[in-house]
Amino acid sequence: MIETTAALQFTETELLGKVAVVDTSRVTINVSNSVLLTRLGIGNLIAVRGSTEREYLIAVAERVTRSVRDELAEDLPEDGEDTRLVSTPTDLVRGALIGTFRTVDGEKKNTFKRGADSFPQIDRDCYVIDAANLQRFMGILGADYPENERLKLGIFVADRSAEAIISGDKFFQRHAAILGSTGSGKSYAVALILERASKLKHPNIIVFDMHGEYAPLANVEKAGFASRFRIAGPGDLENPADDALFLPYWLLNRDEMLSMILDRSDQNAPNQASRFTLHVRTLKQKTLESEKKAEVLKTFTVDSPVPYSIKDLITLLHTDNTTKGVGKTGPVKGEWEDKLTRFLSRLEAKLDDRRYGFMFTPPPKANEYGWLAAQVGRLLASNGGKGIKVIDFSEVPSDVLPVVTGTLARLLYDVQFWTDPGKRTPVTLLCDEAHLYLPVRDDADAVQRQALGAFERIAKEGRKYGFSLLVVSQRPSDVSRTILSQCNNFLSLRLTNDSDQAVITRLMPDSLAGLTSILPLLDTGEALMLGDAVLLPSRIRLDKPAVTPDSATRDFWKEWGSQASDADAINLAVEALRSQTRGKTA
Ligand SMILES: Nc1ncnc2c1ncn2[C@@H]1O[C@H](COP(=O)(O)OP(=O)(O)OP(=O)(O)O)[C@@H](O)[C@H]1O
Ligand SMILES: [Mg+2]
Repeated sequence: MIETTAALQFTETELLGKVAVVDTSRVTINVSNSVLLTRLGIGNLIAVRGSTEREYLIAVAERVTRSVRDELAEDLPEDGEDTRLVSTPTDLVRGALIGTFRTVDGEKKNTFKRGADSFPQIDRDCYVIDAANLQRFMGILGADYPENERLKLGIFVADRSAEAIISGDKFFQRHAAILGSTGSGKSYAVALILERASKLKHPNIIVFDMHGEYAPLANVEKAGFASRFRIAGPGDLENPADDALFLPYWLLNRDEMLSMILDRSDQNAPNQASRFTLHVRTLKQKTLESEKKAEVLKTFTVDSPVPYSIKDLITLLHTDNTTKGVGKTGPVKGEWEDKLTRFLSRLEAKLDDRRYGFMFTPPPKANEYGWLAAQVGRLLASNGGKGIKVIDFSEVPSDVLPVVTGTLARLLYDVQFWTDPGKRTPVTLLCDEAHLYLPVRDDADAVQRQALGAFERIAKEGRKYGFSLLVVSQRPSDVSRTILSQCNNFLSLRLTNDSDQAVITRLMPDSLAGLTSILPLLDTGEALMLGDAVLLPSRIRLDKPAVTPDSATRDFWKEWGSQASDADAINLAVEALRSQTRGKTA
C-alpha cells in the first residue's frame, strides 16, 4: 500500500551513485551513472536513502567534479605489448543536506521537513529527483502552507510545472532582502510582490521609491492599484498638490537636525548645539502651552515632534549671537556673542534653498498641531491596493536623502511602537536602492549614521511591534551589515560581482554556501530564494508583474536605428534642471 502512495519512487535508471564521504551536513556521492550527470545542475535535488525504507535525506547538488584517472589494465599485456593504461573517469557530486522526506510519518504521508535528522550511511543509494518525482515533491512543498499564507512568486526552474509558493507570513515577518546586480529584475520582483499583496484586504506596505519608477503602480489607467506620494519638490511649495509630502523640520529630533546643520569641527560646536537645544525646547513648550496640551507638557522632550516656528528660533539664536555682556565698567563681550555666526548661516542657507523646501518651508497647514496625526494616518492606512503606498523620493537632494528616509522610517516606527498592541496592523517598509541611504557604517558620514540608527533599530526590534523591512539593493556589499544580517529571507537575483556574492555567502548557513555559485549564472527574472519562507532553497523563475515599473532596459541598438533625439525635449530638460522640477513635460 505504502509504495503506491509514496511521492518519491525510484527505479534503477534514476540511481546516481552511492554515498562516498559524509562531512557533517555535506555528502559526496560517487557517481556510477555518468549519463545522469548531464541532467544534473547545481541546485538540483538528490534523494539519499535514509535509515529506513520510508525515509530519504534530501540534498541540493552544489558541486560536480569529473576527473580521469589512468590505471593499469587488469588483463595482462600480451607478449610484445607495453603495459596498458586504461582511463577510468571519477565523477563526484557534492551535495548539501537540507531536509528529510518521509513517505509515512506517523499519521501523515509524504512529509518534508527542513534539516537532516540523521547522517547518511556510506554506500547508501542516491537518486536524482526529477520528472514525476520532482513534480510530486514540489507539490508537497507549497501544499504545506495554508491558503491564506501563500505567496506565489513564479515557477520552480527545476520543474516548470510546479508553482513556486512561499510563506507570505514568514517572508515579511522578520525582514527580507531582494538583491541582484543592475538589470537582474529586482524592481520587477518588487512590483510582483506588491501586486500580490494588493489582492489582500488590508496590506500595509510603504515603498521608498528612489527613482519614481513605481509610479505606474499607482496609475489607474495602467491598472495600477497603489496610492502615491511625492516628497515635495521646489515646484510644490506655492500650491502643494494633495500627493506632495512634507517633512517639516520640527519632526526631526535634535540629533537629526544637528547632523545637518552643525559642523562638528567648529570649535564653537558644543555652544551652538546647546543653545539650539535650549531654544527648541522652549519654543516647543510655547506651542504646547498655547495648544493647551497639559498632559504632553508634563513629559515632552526636545525630541518630541511638536511644531514651532523656525523664524522664532533664528531670532533667538541671533539675539544670543549679538547680545553683549554687562560688565562692571560697561558692555563686555557676550557669553554667546559671535559664537553662533557659522551655525546661523548654515541654518539660513538651508532655509533659502528651495530644494530643502519640503523640510524648511512647509505650507502653514503643515505647521499645525493636528497635521502630523493626519499625515501619518494617511501613510499607515490600509485598504486593499491603497494600502500599498509608494513614496517618490526622486527630487530629494542626495545629501539629505538619508535624513529624510531615516526620519520618515523612525516616525512611522515610533507611531507603530506607541499604538495599542491590540490595534496594530503589521507594516512593512520597502527600501529600494538601500545602498544609497543604508550604507556600511564605517563608510557613513554624520547624516548617514543618523539615518542608519533609525533603520538598525527597526531591524533589531521591529519584529516585536509588527514592523519589518524589505531591503532592495544592487550592491549588497555597500549595505549595512547590521541590517542585512537581521534579514531572514533572501531573494537573490543574478549577482555578478564577487564581493556582493561573498556577502550572500556569509549570510547563508554554512551548508548552503555552495549554492551561491549559481548566482552569476541566473537569467534575468530568475532568483534563488533562501530563508525560512521556503522549505527548500530554490531557484525560481519569477512571474512578470501585470503592471511593470518604469525601469525597462532600453534596446540601445534598435533605438539608435529608429528613434531620433528630440531638441525640444532637451530644451525642456534644461529648464527642468534650472527649476529643479519635473512638472512641465508637454
Ligand atoms: N520576471 C521577469 N520576467 C521577464 N523579464 C524581466 C523580469 N524581471 C525583469 N525583467 C526584465 O529585466 C529588465 C530590468 O529589470 P529591473 O528594472 O527589475 O532591474 P533591477 O534589478 O531593478 O535593476 P536596477 O538595480 O538597475 O534598478 C526589465 O526591463 C525587464 O525587461
Ligand atoms: Mg530597480
